[in-house]
Amino acid sequence: MAADAQEGAVIVVVAANASHDRRSAVTLFSRLRTAKGQADPFPIYTALRSMGGVSPAPWGGSLVTSFDLCDQVLRSRHWLEPDKRWRDQQGPGTRWNAPSSREMSNTLPALNPPDHTRIRRAAGTFGRPALQRIGRTISRTTDQLLSGLAEQLHAGEADFAALVSEELPVAAIGDWLALPTADRSRLRRLTHDQVFTQELLPSASQLARSDAATAELRAYFMDLVRHRRTHPGEDPVSGWIRTWDAIEPDRDKADEAVYFLALFVLLAALETTSSLLSIMTLRLVEHPERWDTVATRPDLVPAFVEETLRYDPPTHVISRIAAKDCVLGGIEIRKDDMAHLMVGAAHWDPARHTDPERFDLQRKPDHLAFSGGIHYCLGAPLARLEAQTLLHQLVRRLPRLTLVRRPAWAPRVAFRRLLNLDVALA
Ligand code: HEM
Repeated sequence: MAADAQEGAVIVVVAANASHDRRSAVTLFSRLRTAKGQADPFPIYTALRSMGGVSPAPWGGSLVTSFDLCDQVLRSRHWLEPDKRWRDQQGPGTRWNAPSSREMSNTLPALNPPDHTRIRRAAGTFGRPALQRIGRTISRTTDQLLSGLAEQLHAGEADFAALVSEELPVAAIGDWLALPTADRSRLRRLTHDQVFTQELLPSASQLARSDAATAELRAYFMDLVRHRRTHPGEDPVSGWIRTWDAIEPDRDKADEAVYFLALFVLLAALETTSSLLSIMTLRLVEHPERWDTVATRPDLVPAFVEETLRYDPPTHVISRIAAKDCVLGGIEIRKDDMAHLMVGAAHWDPARHTDPERFDLQRKPDHLAFSGGIHYCLGAPLARLEAQTLLHQLVRRLPRLTLVRRPAWAPRVAFRRLLNLDVALA
């Protein structure tokens, strides 16, 4: 065969493979977006990975399932967050220009340097004194929640997700931000609705719910910021107002910047941590020997939390945009193309973790649950503290629990959510 003909044949095969891969990816993603797919996404991830560490996403852009490549993208300055400029480019009528998405484009995980650097610095971090103070609230709240759970368990089964996992994060972040206790259930409901704009493929009705929740949250947090301006305290919102007043002469702009921080901290803290608490407890109760191991070896509590974060993290997808044309995992990527880092799949990449399907407390912590690089999660110490406190108290205070029925999962892809976790005394 002449060289031209040979090359032509190769191109035809590659194109046929690519279109076959795209069709397979469509099928796999529609399975992922069901409650059944969310109950066990891992075989679907294995099928995705069999198309390569990087494969074309059916709707454009790429899917990255290789751990090393996800890690590389997160740490690289050649990959950016989908910021306002990029969202504008996608055009009116796209999900990226829905009101909720435009609002999110002002929050930390949608900013790139130098804006990100400036605002992240102003946000500060969880220092030891703050963590110690919140730690006391977390301990006390966990104790109360487990008493309520125990009471219900003596009468029969109990929904751990509703009684404990949904309550502890909102109590912790509510205490830190000094939010009125009476507002907690409203804020939790709004967060559940708002998250859809951050999902991988939100439907029009989901986006509408997210838009409505975003508008309500804006009104709530703008009122809060104005109130704290006139009644300052020692809470972080008052602290952010002081910080911003020192760097931004325009008071309205300073208030707006503080609003975006407070808004995103709430959104970032609630669903993710609730999912961690529920998934951790699910992994604990589904195998009796795991409960017994942690009860007799409480020093394994931090390893249990880290292995939960690897095995099934609360966030399964993180997205980035290419800052310039490049090649990733042998695939050509154009400037402004999006890569979906499938971290839930990457955590089961056998090239990184031996026997990834084994829940193994002896593993060295190694995961991307809190992202990596400059956007590394600001709340990771708080999330870890909540999970470790809960697990310690759970195995110390209660006899072994058992799973009554398989839980139901919200049918989405990026943000895991257990809708119930029904347990009983073993
Ligand atoms: C288990 C619980 C949590 C998980 C799995 C989680 C996960 C993440 C991930 C994956 C990112 C990075 C997104 C990206 O790279 O684009 C992130 C960023 C962030 N998280 Fe968390 N998070 C958790 C809890 C929290 C809590 C409790 C807070 C606040 C108290 C928080 C505050 C933030 C903030 C402010 C950012 C933005 C950082 C930046 O862009 O510079 N998170 N989180």
